[in-house]
Amino acid sequence: MRLDIVTIFPEYLEPLNVSLVGKARARGQLDVRIHDLRDCAHDKHNTVDDTPYGGGPGMVMKPEPWGEALDGILASGEGEPVIVVPTPSGAPFTQQLAVELSAKPWLVFTPARYEGIDRRVIEEYGDRVDVREVSIGDYVLAGGEAPVLVMVEAVARLLPGVLGNAASHQDDSFAPGAMADLLEGPVYTKPPEWRGRGIPEVLLSGHHGKIARWRRDEAFRRTDRNRPDLIERADPAAFDKHDRAILAALGWSVGADGRFGRTTEAVEE
Ligand SMILES: C[S@@+](CC[C@H](N)C(=O)[O-])C[C@H]1O[C@@H](n2cnc3c(N)ncnc32)[C@H](O)[C@@H]1O
Repeated sequence: MRLDIVTIFPEYLEPLNVSLVGKARARGQLDVRIHDLRDCAHDKHNTVDDTPYGGGPGMVMKPEPWGEALDGILASGEGEPVIVVPTPSGAPFTQQLAVELSAKPWLVFTPARYEGIDRRVIEEYGDRVDVREVSIGDYVLAGGEAPVLVMVEAVARLLPGVLGNAASHQDDSFAPGAMADLLEGPVYTKPPEWRGRGIPEVLLSGHHGKIARWRRDEAFRRTDRNRPDLIERADPAAFDKHDRAILAALGWSVGADGRFGRTTEAVEE
């Protein structure tokens, strides 16, 4: 996969040289190209921002440097990339979107600073290629570089051969399929006792069916506790009778609208 990132802080993206993403680059699975937007700003001070039309606080990123940078990138490759525009006003970045983006051969990221990029840039490239405005959460950061680090890592770990065990992301929280609306439950490793704390007996049983059921029940318990909104939005048809039993024990039932709602107190101890 090819990734182009245009930024005024190339050094902010140094973490892309370490760990999983760094190794994927070294192995040639990821071709990451970082571009300094100021190289496309040709006045004496390499200016990339200006005051907003209509007044108000803050500065807005000028369209000309972005246009030159993106034209150059688009002309340098085969086919069309997906342009990912980080912005708090974008659609939420989810595991589902990470999976979708991981299937694309080429992504271009446009992390901004100040109050963001002149709107005409998004319109201009939206007329030519697939442009996604994406938010990593309901809070506002000073710039889009940290969101790009987040998104690149989430996408890169899904690429074939990047994770040591290809199956390991299939059981993750939010993984499309059986975990789509669930959080992963707790995990344990050796030693079997630490500071007087043991591990759940079932994990030592060697009984794969029971272990899988226990893990799924724990996923429901954790989702119930930390993200009940995920259960509310889930499709009840996606759950089997064991899933429904644990949900009922946690106080959930399917209402007249065909969705789960918390209707009773949990009956679990
Ligand atoms: C200070 S923010 C601009 C916020 C903008 N005035 C607003 O309220 O929507 C500057 C840049 O940081 C990045 N950014 C900040 N928060 C973000 C978030 N939650 N998700 C994605 N990008 C974000 C974007 O690139 C954004 O253009």
